[in-house]
Amino acid sequence: MQPVVAIVVAAGSGSRLGGEVPKALRELAGRPLVSHSLEHLAAGGVDRVVLVIAAGLAADFAPAIAGSPIPTSWVAGGAERQDSVLAGLAAIAADPELSGCRFVLVHDAARALVPPEVVDRVVQALVAGAVAAIPVVPVVDTIREVTPSGSATVDRSRLRVVQTPQGFRREVLVNGHRLVRESGLQVTDDAAVIEALGEPVTLVEGSREALKVTEPLDLLFAEAIVRSRP
Ligand code: CTP
Ligand code: MG
Repeated sequence: MQPVVAIVVAAGSGSRLGGEVPKALRELAGRPLVSHSLEHLAAGGVDRVVLVIAAGLAADFAPAIAGSPIPTSWVAGGAERQDSVLAGLAAIAADPELSGCRFVLVHDAARALVPPEVVDRVVQALVAGAVAAIPVVPVVDTIREVTPSGSATVDRSRLRVVQTPQGFRREVLVNGHRLVRESGLQVTDDAAVIEALGEPVTLVEGSREALKVTEPLDLLFAEAIVRSRP
């Protein structure tokens, strides 16, 4: 089978979480968030990782890279998440060992506890022919939309919360990012990039355990999830 390569974006500062170190290096159960992510991706079928980190932090990330269960290289990211994904795609294209890969996953380092079966579902959807496959979960809260005249309930049964890893046929993701860059569109995930191309996005079942550590409360939830696992 074709090797599955994951771009793990870890170049953000984590301004909403706060703290002294970049978010991906914040400790969860004694290990950096990024190390948890690498482990779960490997267990879910990823073969190689390109880790995208903030310029100048290579030494800080070196122990996590050295401890990765799968071959992991790094590249410097950019100002916005989509710039960091682009840097990862460029690194894949420039590496003769990776440039032949058909599938690429993009994962937020901050989704440290993604269950391996979610990763596997994304990979299997690609193997089965999906152009893009993303994990989603139902919305559990009632949602109201604020309108100029007041507010109104939104039918939440039609809504899904989007997670990572998101998987793509590599050339489609490359083309999508090119289009987004040329048109100046702002996107918050890579599925939106695929949508801009008019290509279909396949939904697979995600997990609430794949929460994105964003605010201090999320770290508390994540600690509890780690403790609950065997
Ligand atoms: N990310 C990145 N490059 C950026 C911005 C974000 O690689 N320029 C990564 C983050 O490291 C994170 C993922 O994208 O793993 C999701 O972003 P988010 O949760 O927003 O992380 P931060 O941008 O670091 O956090 P904040 O928005 O609170 O500053
Ligand atoms: Mg951010």
